Amino acid sequence: ESIKVFAPATVANVVCGFDVLGFAVNEPGDEVMMRLTDKHGITISKITGDDGRLPLDPKKNTVSVSVQHYLQSIDRADIGLDIELHKKMPIGSGLGSSSASTVAGLFAIKTLLGDERDPSALLPFAMKGEEMACGHGHADNVAPALLGGFVLIRSYEPLDVVRLPHPPGLWCAIVFPDVDVPTREARQIIRNKILMKDAVTQWGNIAGLVSGLFMQDIDLIGRSMQDVLVEPVRSMLIPDFYEMRKMAMDVGAVSFGISGSGPSVFAFTRDEETAKRITSKLQAHLTSIKIGSNGYVSTI
Ligand code: HSE
Repeated sequence: ESIKVFAPATVANVVCGFDVLGFAVNEPGDEVMMRLTDKHGITISKITGDDGRLPLDPKKNTVSVSVQHYLQSIDRADIGLDIELHKKMPIGSGLGSSSASTVAGLFAIKTLLGDERDPSALLPFAMKGEEMACGHGHADNVAPALLGGFVLIRSYEPLDVVRLPHPPGLWCAIVFPDVDVPTREARQIIRNKILMKDAVTQWGNIAGLVSGLFMQDIDLIGRSMQDVLVEPVRSMLIPDFYEMRKMAMDVGAVSFGISGSGPSVFAFTRDEETAKRITSKLQAHLTSIKIGSNGYVSTI
């Protein structure tokens, strides 16, 4: 018995909601093929699209490790499984690359074993994969990759995940500048202490963004997407971040910011055409400063 599962890229933080907000896009994403075997234990027979960067050792790969945690939790750790991972998105991009693989793997095993629980039951195992990939088990990529749409992590302990609505016709332009920003390091440079006045600005913005999602008020969404805590520090790791923001806003973006821990950036727009113009403009700029890039346009 075998199955093929796709899981999408995700934009974590959504600018003001560090570690608590994220949404899924239609593409890119990763694909996992999984097959039950009559041996014991997990093997990874093939990984494509990773330029040889990901481990085939099932003890070191986030997909097999999180699947193993899941199997242990249901007392099936002895079954035989073979995994193929087909990466169809860049690694270390800030687009939830490890999450997409992990979620695809967990969904595959859950389906193969006929586990009929809600997919959210897989979240703790997906978070273990994140912990292994970058040293911290945040859920703002894995939860939207698993559940789709916009997701709020209201609390980590206990885990409380809330699916949020969003206005129809919201488009997202994403550009990945090909520079190295490992999430582990992008987390280390963030300040540990913040000023009360910045906290007030930030929670006003998060509440504004969530209200805008419910009220289908794209202007409110746009003006709430400002981050005074993390972006001022992380933007330094992204080439010409503020120039790119100005270009995107001039073309008609609703908002602009860092996707997850970067280096990818994203913009919300009201239509596909504007999203396409933003990706072309930013990619042309990156080419002019000799940085390669990938661009994606998606509805949410
Ligand atoms: N919330 C996480 C971070 C997402 O910003 O570090 C990483 O993709």
